Amino acid sequence: MLLVLNGPNLNRLGLREPGVYGSQTLEDLERQCDAWGAELGQAVTCRQSNYEGQLIEWIHEAEEHGFTGIVLNPGALTHYSYALRDAISGQRVPVIEVHISNVDAREEFRHRSVTAAVCRGKISGLGFLGYRLGLEALVEGQA
Ligand code: DQA
Repeated sequence: MLLVLNGPNLNRLGLREPGVYGSQTLEDLERQCDAWGAELGQAVTCRQSNYEGQLIEWIHEAEEHGFTGIVLNPGALTHYSYALRDAISGQRVPVIEVHISNVDAREEFRHRSVTAAVCRGKISGLGFLGYRLGLEALVEGQA
């Protein structure tokens, strides 16, 4: 059972800077994640929150709720949230960090991730495909 977590502002996909994030919505993304999970023989639960504390609590509870891997797009929290980083490093479920846009090709402040070092891996710039690759890595045991 796998968990897909999207952080702040990702509920605005499709409306928000479509030149950067594309025209598909969060609902489209979550539908695709469900379908990819089914192909991989895994149930996928998708959640989104604009609140740092909510994301932290979902990460704390992931293992006891039976999740074996997490695909996480922390949004802008990536760049400054030590609290999110500590939540990831303080538990055992592997986490793959995903960004829809190529953060390294954007503003300087997006080049730094405080969370990536405590994740198993990071995928950036491949659009929604990054979520699929993250799910695959978790299933293949690469993560
Ligand atoms: C993002 C990149 C972040 O810099 C940004 O704050 C986001 C989305 C991405 O998916 O490309 O909210 O994580």
